[in-house]
Amino acid sequence: MTAVTFDVDKLAAEYNDKTPSDILALAIEHFENLSISFSGAEDVVLIDMAVQIKPDINVFSLDTGRLHPETYQFIERVRNHYNIQIDLMSPDQKQLEKFVQDKGLYSFYQDGHQECCGIRKVMPLRRALSTLDAWITGQRQDQSPDTRQGIPVMQKDNAFSSADRTLIKFNPLAGWTSQQVWQYIRENDVPFNELHSKGFASIGCEPCTRAVLPNQHEREGRWWWEEATKKECGLHVDNIKK
Ligand code: ADX
Ligand code: SF4
Repeated sequence: MTAVTFDVDKLAAEYNDKTPSDILALAIEHFENLSISFSGAEDVVLIDMAVQIKPDINVFSLDTGRLHPETYQFIERVRNHYNIQIDLMSPDQKQLEKFVQDKGLYSFYQDGHQECCGIRKVMPLRRALSTLDAWITGQRQDQSPDTRQGIPVMQKDNAFSSADRTLIKFNPLAGWTSQQVWQYIRENDVPFNELHSKGFASIGCEPCTRAVLPNQHEREGRWWWEEATKKECGLHVDNIKK
């Protein structure tokens, strides 16, 4: 079935209280051409569940060139643990070279993260999504009271669909808490990024991520010099309130 014949709003309501595995099963059953967008703890939970339904599930990751060494090691561990292919998407070489030449390596501290994220994350994501009918993310509602509270378990991706192509976005963990994610990781021996043992909660690029203190919200460790309502890098631009 294609995205055109998939009644996403009706199914989102129907699947709101179903388990992440049920949502993944629906996604995998309906869309042959779909992929898991992988970077963090939530995404490995999804991979762990998805390989039980489809052992050769497609997975991609955006290699911004600015990830921590621990994150690169983590990507390799996940690849080997599940014996899956992970497509690493790199930024466009020409665009990146010009940007770094013009503005250096740390311009985001002065004028915000959007330009760098645009080149290192959003354009490669656009390229990855251009070949897909659906994608799966590890977004959760409680990741951010400012931008993620309303995310449904599945939705039309308004940011990356085009006039002649509807792209469906699945967020099977939308209703899960961080506690549920980590309980699953511990109970199922799921690999995780070593940075979590060093006080990091939500992990992005090295210059834009820092550890958080006990009881500090996980999102406070990301782009800490910017306002909470701006903390979306363009992958999930639908989340920003217009
Ligand atoms: S971000 O937009 O602020 O960077 P976050 O780190 O919360 O996103 O992750 C939310 C979801 O976005 C992840 O579960 C994953 O599906 C996707 N995602 C984020 N960063 C990447 C990345 N580098 N590569 C692939 N997917 C990513
Ligand atoms: Fe650039 Fe930081 Fe965005 Fe990574 S998170 S792409 S380093 S601005």
